[in-house]
Amino acid sequence: MSELTDKLKKDIESFKINSREELEHFRLTYLSKKGRVSSLLGKIGSIAAEERKLFGQKVNAVKKLAHDKLEEAEQRLHKSQKTSRKATDDISLPASSLSLGVAHPLSQTLTRIKDVFYRLGFSIADGPEVEDDFHNFTALNFPPEHPARDMQDTFFIKKSDDPNTDDLVLRTHTSPVQIRLMKNGTPPFRSIMPGRVYRNESITAKSYCLFHQVEGLYVDKNVSLAELKDTLIMFVEMIYGEGVRYRIRPSFFPFTEPSLEMDIWWGDDETGKWLEILGAGMVHPNVLQSVGVDPEEYRGFAFGMGVERIAMLFYGIDDIRLLYDNDLRFLQQFQ
Ligand code: PHE
Repeated sequence: MSELTDKLKKDIESFKINSREELEHFRLTYLSKKGRVSSLLGKIGSIAAEERKLFGQKVNAVKKLAHDKLEEAEQRLHKSQKTSRKATDDISLPASSLSLGVAHPLSQTLTRIKDVFYRLGFSIADGPEVEDDFHNFTALNFPPEHPARDMQDTFFIKKSDDPNTDDLVLRTHTSPVQIRLMKNGTPPFRSIMPGRVYRNESITAKSYCLFHQVEGLYVDKNVSLAELKDTLIMFVEMIYGEGVRYRIRPSFFPFTEPSLEMDIWWGDDETGKWLEILGAGMVHPNVLQSVGVDPEEYRGFAFGMGVERIAMLFYGIDDIRLLYDNDLRFLQQFQ
């Protein structure tokens, strides 16, 4: 009888299992109810009693062999299935491209603005978006109830009844950061202060309830209006190119004297119009005084530019709301 078990053992050993199908074939052939191991065991009754014990041992050894082989093959195939490629995969194809996002046009514009002022020797300063009335208005020479406050319609966070505590507002401009900067340091100052500002304005193609400004401040012993003009002209030429069409005209801000505004021509020669991009001026002596800088010794200039306006002119965007819609069809054009 041992030829039978030997033959079975050999067949099991030489069986190659390299796929799920072969695995199943192996299981059915050897280990199923009607498989070769079971049918060999079924023969035990017809075996001479003295040989039965040995025969049983041999068949059980073969059965264990088949089980071990099955288990080993199962594990091997399971592992390789995780890592294996399909026959149809073409590994010489280029990898599919990753879809990378792009910086928002406003961020790209801000980066450009910062680059210009780094080159002109300005550092960067920062301040809170929720401001108190003192920093947003009073220290900037807007006395309480002064009509100039109407220039900047304000979102109030907290109105105070107590005359000793300030109202809290969403800052209407980045100019309060000038105050914080000067209060916390000693002159000279040469910084830009980028950030988000808020105004209670009706939303149109040209204005939004929130927008971004970059404030600039340069305070030193002999700073002049000529330097301010020079800086602003250099700025627009570095952003828009040397042929940019700009104009500088007189204006009014309580915290600068004299004050001016700068416009850029928007559109073509006949149908275009001037678009204001910034306000500026020589820092008012009252402002220097309010932060403890001696106006007899120091002078300075300040400017505040609208990042949205600068971006719209740069890219030719005609509606400010597009910058806040988060529409991918729009944003993907700024690769
Ligand atoms: N803060 C002013 C505004 O938002 C702009 C400005 C800044 C004007 C600095 C003069 C100097 O309108």
